[in-house]
Amino acid sequence: MGLRNIGGIDIEFQECREFFGQNLGIVADISCGTGIFSRRLALLQQCEQIIALDYSEAMLGQLQQQMQLEGISPSQITIIRGDVAALPFTPNSLDAVYSGAAMHCWPDATQGLRNIYQALRSGGKLFATTFLQPLPSIVFRFFTPDELPQMAIAAGFHPDCVQLETRGVYGIIKCVK
Ligand SMILES: C[S@@+](CC[C@H](N)C(=O)[O-])C[C@H]1O[C@@H](n2cnc3c(N)ncnc32)[C@H](O)[C@@H]1O
Repeated sequence: MGLRNIGGIDIEFQECREFFGQNLGIVADISCGTGIFSRRLALLQQCEQIIALDYSEAMLGQLQQQMQLEGISPSQITIIRGDVAALPFTPNSLDAVYSGAAMHCWPDATQGLRNIYQALRSGGKLFATTFLQPLPSIVFRFFTPDELPQMAIAAGFHPDCVQLETRGVYGIIKCVK
């Protein structure tokens, strides 16, 4: 599991579910990769709609293969090849967004958060994780713990509605619009 959240994706998934609450509605997994979050969510069968978006066709191909292996039908997850810099969502349309281990990959993380903020409905929730300095920013841009909430606030979230947790070099922000 490397540097990811202690306990790995299962613990992270549980924490995210607790944060999102009971009425899941329309949930987007932005930068879904192979869909380690969306596939777990689909198996719960508690969402009105799950949207898995990633820039990489290769990742989305693996997501589709994994869905087949796990018996998840294409109707359970809407797969979109897209860029967080230009999200294809109607403003105020999403109930929740998960974005796991991805913000450090985005060319402009604040703009990505701003686009997510706009896509969330009022009361909608964002659970996002990323890696922190002192990891060196050679290929990716790693953040300081202070930067993460500031970026979320610059994206539009109210300061009282932004929570940061750090676990070593793993950072989690939980925001409510
Ligand atoms: C480290 S992976 C994390 C994948 C998945 N969320 C997980 O937790 O396993 C980062 C993902 O961000 C995606 N990504 C990078 N830049 C992106 C962009 N501009 N828009 C959307 N996705 C992007 C990559 O294709 C990759 O799948």
